[in-house]
Amino acid sequence: MKAVRWGIVGLGNIANKFASDLALVPDCSLEAVASSDPSRASDFAQKYQVKKSYARYTDLFQDPEVDLVYVASLHPLHAALAIEAIKNGKGVLCEKPMGMNAVQVNQIVKSATAAPVFLMEALWTRFNPAFAQVQQWIAEGKIGRLRYINATFSFNGLDRGEDSRLFNPKKGGGSLLDIGIYPLFLAYSLLGLPESVKASAVLTKQGVDEQLAFIFSYPKAQALLYSSFAHDEDMQARICGESGEIYMGSRWHETGDLKLVTKEGEFKHSIPITGKGYTYEILEANQCFRDHQNQSSKWTWQQSIDIATLMDTLRKEIKVVYPEDGE
Ligand SMILES: NC(=O)c1ccc[n+]([C@@H]2O[C@H](COP(=O)([O-])OP(=O)(O)OC[C@H]3O[C@@H](n4cnc5c(N)ncnc54)[C@H](OP(=O)(O)O)[C@@H]3O)[C@@H](O)[C@H]2O)c1
Repeated sequence: MKAVRWGIVGLGNIANKFASDLALVPDCSLEAVASSDPSRASDFAQKYQVKKSYARYTDLFQDPEVDLVYVASLHPLHAALAIEAIKNGKGVLCEKPMGMNAVQVNQIVKSATAAPVFLMEALWTRFNPAFAQVQQWIAEGKIGRLRYINATFSFNGLDRGEDSRLFNPKKGGGSLLDIGIYPLFLAYSLLGLPESVKASAVLTKQGVDEQLAFIFSYPKAQALLYSSFAHDEDMQARICGESGEIYMGSRWHETGDLKLVTKEGEFKHSIPITGKGYTYEILEANQCFRDHQNQSSKWTWQQSIDIATLMDTLRKEIKVVYPEDGE
């Protein structure tokens, strides 16, 4: 089998985790990396034994030996970088959120449709085997009709300062786009588009959500969702039906630990996770690329548009606006 050749642009925190997981996935290689900082590019290349390092993203986009580009830069740069990669004929795995708003996500999707090339948002939790198990239990009717989801994502990032990507609006700061997207994803994936949403936020002086509680309402179900950069929390998720419950263990978005509780009793299930858990989205992208599928059936372009639209709706309610919203 021909190895899928990857390139990474934007060599920060997540690029490092991704590169170490990519090394665990068979039949693919990290062909090239690019950073705005030449020494970061060459250090990264040395650390992960990458053949080529570029100081300009454009050089990576034009490298004929790169098949798929992983866009790992800050949220506000995702759209421009993904579109440039696509225009150069590359398939793209784009970090979440795919764009700053639904307009940007639609622009990226339009570009991938026209090319046509592979495009997927790197919503890695979707590909976690524990999530597949949760879906299977629900489909098998183990917990009956789904009535309630409670999921949170929180950590104390207050010491990162107001110029960090967590808080600076020009860097896409705010908890919803960075981590609230995970609880939102869980409710949307299991219950679909809500009938209505409500949100309440603690905003910073710069006007982004440092702390956000939101409710998705469905005809016969509710999801209580939460994200915050203000405090640590154990981050479990509860998924409750009329005849049972599923608990996803601490740091539910990456866990392999599940508990199913029904009238028959309690069943604990632990699924081993390969690497940090980014291996599964890499496997999916590789498979789609090899099969000439431009989108994954597990996380489609429409699903990325839907969650971006939901985040736009929530932001309207809490009055969080980014420079990109006016474009
Ligand atoms: N899936 C996950 O688990 C996960 C986890 C963390 C983050 N993420 C996502 O990945 C993306 C990057 O997050 P990160 O934590 O890796 O960020 P980071 O380490 O702060 O920065 C990533 C890269 O962004 C580029 N960048 C461009 N303009 C910048 C600026 N003004 N200041 C700082 N960096 C700038 C830099 O690329 P150069 O190297 O080219 O200079 C930097 O290396 C975000 O969109 C985030 O949502 C995903």
